[in-house]
Amino acid sequence: MSLPNQLHLTPKSPKESMIEMREMVLPQHTNALNTIFGGVVMSWIDLAAAMSAQKHCNRHVVTAHIDEISFLSSIKVGEHVLIKASVNYVGRTSLIVGVRVESEDILAQTTKITTRAYLTFVALDLHGHPVQVPPLNPETHDEKRRFENAKKRVQATKELRAKIQMSNRS
Ligand SMILES: CC(C)(COP(=O)(O)OP(=O)(O)OC[C@H]1O[C@@H](n2cnc3c(N)ncnc32)[C@H](O)[C@@H]1OP(=O)(O)O)[C@@H](O)C(=O)NCCC(=O)NCCS
Repeated sequence: MSLPNQLHLTPKSPKESMIEMREMVLPQHTNALNTIFGGVVMSWIDLAAAMSAQKHCNRHVVTAHIDEISFLSSIKVGEHVLIKASVNYVGRTSLIVGVRVESEDILAQTTKITTRAYLTFVALDLHGHPVQVPPLNPETHDEKRRFENAKKRVQATKELRAKIQMSNRS
């Protein structure tokens, strides 16, 4: 059942839609070097980010764009993988979700950051049309910094697209 429309537009803080997922790297997830295959990490990132976007707007969402994905270090078989996703910014119908992936070596009791990603989702109504999402209410210093950075990212992407369109026309 869907919520009444006004409930869909109540502002929410990023904390309310934060997602934390934990996985373990099994042999079927690895490449020839016994470290995780990038596509597996990408699918976990997409899943955690989509759940975070859904929690923010209580709607179905689709992945529209992957703004950035940076693999900073590899993850070995047997290590745990922590995927943390939260909404950084919202437009009218779109949401930008930031994801941070960490690996945890359970025996050595060490963690390291392995991947950072930013994805854009679009909320859809029951007919599959883009629909307005609730405003985001960043509260902490970090939440405000992520919000401002995501806003710059959206602006920069729009400018780059417009530039490419212009140069294709000339
Ligand atoms: C994403 C999708 C719903 C957008 O549809 P659309 O008709 O272009 O929608 P609109 O032009 O009304 O744009 C809706 C919002 O999406 C944003 N958007 C659309 N395409 C985008 C893209 N490629 N990158 C970033 N944002 C995008 C728009 O800026 C707009 O944001 P706003 O409302 O916050 O200002 C449509 O392209 C789609 O269904 N794509 C396939 C999604 C999918 O199947 N994903 C699964 C993984 S392959």
